[in-house]
Amino acid sequence: MRRICVIGASGKLGQYMVRHALDRGYEVVGVCREASVPKLAAFEGRITVVPGDTDDPEVIRRAVAGCDGVLTVLVPWGVQQYASGTAQAVLDHAPPGARLVFSCGWHITRDGRDRYTWWFRAAVRIAAVLGRLVRAVEIDDQVEACRRVFASDTRWTVVRGSSLEEGESQGLPVWSQHVGDPVLASNRTRRVDFALFMVAALTDDTLVREAPAIVGRLTPSALAHASVPHESVDRPKSAG
Ligand SMILES: NC(=O)c1ccc[n+]([C@@H]2O[C@H](COP(=O)([O-])OP(=O)(O)OC[C@H]3O[C@@H](n4cnc5c(N)ncnc54)[C@H](OP(=O)(O)O)[C@@H]3O)[C@@H](O)[C@H]2O)c1
Repeated sequence: MRRICVIGASGKLGQYMVRHALDRGYEVVGVCREASVPKLAAFEGRITVVPGDTDDPEVIRRAVAGCDGVLTVLVPWGVQQYASGTAQAVLDHAPPGARLVFSCGWHITRDGRDRYTWWFRAAVRIAAVLGRLVRAVEIDDQVEACRRVFASDTRWTVVRGSSLEEGESQGLPVWSQHVGDPVLASNRTRRVDFALFMVAALTDDTLVREAPAIVGRLTPSALAHASVPHESVDRPKSAG
């Protein structure tokens, strides 16, 4: 990895990813909506910013040119297919062979073998219906975005985040292939560590074409069920 692109760089997850990528010595290109460019002021002079909507193919084509890896924040905001448009632009324009890492939540399922509680399903459905009613959120479009990624023959990883919280890093989250696996039961990850996992995935070939569901490595369920030594923060480990 030499040069990487963060798409959705101005959000909370995006800014953490920019920081981790700079810490690793990567050259960073960030894409964010024009109005959000000031949110990246702290990185002035250290990253290249390409302003524009992340579902604009021309913006993405320029931003990802020459990148070895692309980190994409997939968000369901708005009702104009923003998530699927963003995913499609990245799939269409990332250089061949680039590592593509996308973020989403546990509600995304790749193979239908995730086991959700009834209240989790209900909460997602209510959010989807209400979000669409008030024209603020389009959860089904985030599902469509991931469907397109799963169907692509690129070197993708879709990282499925648990509920998030702020706080100091606890190190690289642990992961499992299916929601419902005991290691994930705590359903809590520090956002800074979600970002750490996304950046680490760039150089972890075992995660190519995987959709890891992650959880904080110091959460009770991870401590009880993960088979990783606590001091090791270099590699995620599937408990499945
Ligand atoms: N929040 C959670 O509890 C949670 C749980 C599990 C997984 N996740 C996943 O984690 C990732 C980051 O989520 P987050 O909640 O932490 O958000 P975040 O990092 O703050 O990022 C929000 C992103 O959405 C953009 N955005 C906000 N309003 C928008 C609009 N109306 N139209 C287009 N873009 C808009 C922001 O861009 P601007 O800077 O331009 O506003 C920013 O890039 C997502 O993939 C999400 O699915 C979140």
